[in-house]
Amino acid sequence: MAQAEQIVYLNGAFLPLDQAKVSVLDRGFLFGDGVYEVIPVYGGRPLRLAEHLERLGNSLAGIRMEQPLTDAQWESLFERLIHGGEDQSIYLQVTRGVSPKRDHAFPKGVAPTVFAMCTRIAPIPASGVKAITVADIRWQWCHIKAITLLANVLQRQQAVDEGCAEAILVRDGYAIEGAASNLFAWVDGVLLTPPKGHDILPGITRDLVVELAQANDIPLEERKISLEELNRADEVWVTSSTREVLPIIELDGKTVGTGVPGPLWVRMNALYQQRKELLRKGL
Ligand code: PDD
Repeated sequence: MAQAEQIVYLNGAFLPLDQAKVSVLDRGFLFGDGVYEVIPVYGGRPLRLAEHLERLGNSLAGIRMEQPLTDAQWESLFERLIHGGEDQSIYLQVTRGVSPKRDHAFPKGVAPTVFAMCTRIAPIPASGVKAITVADIRWQWCHIKAITLLANVLQRQQAVDEGCAEAILVRDGYAIEGAASNLFAWVDGVLLTPPKGHDILPGITRDLVVELAQANDIPLEERKISLEELNRADEVWVTSSTREVLPIIELDGKTVGTGVPGPLWVRMNALYQQRKELLRKGL
């Protein structure tokens, strides 16, 4: 389907992408004042929809906004946007709406802007990718999935400029997450992932990987990962709704493990793909 013909949702209407327009006075445009979600869809079914909608509710509460739609309304809207059985992701965004005057403080009596679209997702490179570490220059409320992503954009671009696929963010000597992903490292026979808190996004893929590790007797600890541990890890992965469980084979120009996706990743990826298959079959 040509992009312009794609049907998207904007403020109660379903319309072609090239006709979906938002005012320049929208607070999302002027202030980055809004939140978003990205939900993977396999076989026409969203993965972990309830968890994504719960996180959306938490993000909205975090910026003092109400849920604009009920879970049932979100669900029926997504059903209309999902096209076919190919792997895709729903992107949704809620901003504080269009105010007649540009003023930092919240406007009164303004309806939120609600936008959603569905996009195809590419298969992950199973041969693994390269990453760099960079200082985390983001704000202190990274648990909110805010559309205000300038720091993440700069960090990811730095990675791309250096021929890498992701930037791993370092705060106070600890590697905490990627520019758009969560972090796992296999160190001394234990799978480590940083604990949830205000410094990282509580990733839905992260939670699924934690559950899969626990259900399959893979030793796992949710604790901080020092840069020293990251540098000597046998395996490093990043996780996200669009990149699944992605192995990092080179970090800051140095080989991770043996330089190919490791055996634990092969196992975890198989478990993850099994989950997707079950969803595709409606199980
Ligand atoms: N990003 N951390 C950050 C900073 C992220 O932006 C993301 C996802 C994650 C992983 O969360 P999840 O597993 O729920 O996708 C962690 C999305 C995919 C994006 O911005 O496009």
